[in-house]
Amino acid sequence: MPEAAHVCAACHGALGAGNASGVPRIGGMSADYLAHALSAFKAGRRRSKTMQPIARTLSDADIDTLARYFAAQDPPLAPSPQPPSPDWVAAGKALAFRGGNKSTPACFECHGMNARDDDQRAPRITGEPAIYVVNRLHAFQARARLGTFKPGSMTEVASKLTDTEIRNVAAYLSVTPPD
Ligand code: HEC
Ligand code: HEC
Repeated sequence: MPEAAHVCAACHGALGAGNASGVPRIGGMSADYLAHALSAFKAGRRRSKTMQPIARTLSDADIDTLARYFAAQDPPLAPSPQPPSPDWVAAGKALAFRGGNKSTPACFECHGMNARDDDQRAPRITGEPAIYVVNRLHAFQARARLGTFKPGSMTEVASKLTDTEIRNVAAYLSVTPPD
């Protein structure tokens, strides 16, 4: 593990599995996406009380090293203290593959199931802890309420989701390992 990754491991785990309290899974995501996310935290384009101060300490070379290290990992799913209801998981799977109410598109239309799909702008979301997915979708919804958003953006997709759909899709993703 590179020296700079020790601080990350304290929260994300040595292989980047994340944890059930809402730290995201970063192991096996594309290096491009990880570097992009870290640069956005560093520049303040993406807000996070936790990650902004950490990212500000990283040089561009650190970001490159960390992105490549975590992209190369394939951690097991983060253990969850309580497995989600099978009904939620089944409903979330249907949403992910086929879309939902109010013509919400299928998640996998944009998000590949594959962990290392470097060409995709939309990151891999399978294997993410449920609380992280819920928090991120709520943040996209908050952004949608602030004003206009691009058609086809994640902000628009999130603006159409109900709380029940969010709960269900988060449950499904949290128990589904990336291919
Ligand atoms: C104190 C705990 C903590 C530490 C230490 C930490 N992280 Fe995070 N990280 C988080 C949390 C919580 C989030 C979710 C933040 C959010 O979106 O608001 C996150 C988000 C991220 C994301 C965005 C993931 C995504 O799917 O968009 C990346 C990338 C990331 N961290 C990388 C790192 C790296 C690399 C390090 C080490 C330099 C690190 N983190 C250190 C807690 C931590
Ligand atoms: C039209 C394409 C599209 C569709 C459909 C879509 N997404 Fe996204 N999603 C994106 C893009 C692009 C991003 C990256 C946005 C960013 O980083 O600001 C994203 C980001 C996300 C994130 C944050 C990932 C991370 O690691 O932090 C989550 C969670 C997410 N989407 C969940 C979903 C769910 C659940 C669905 C299905 C209900 C869905 N998405 C459907 C395009 C899409």
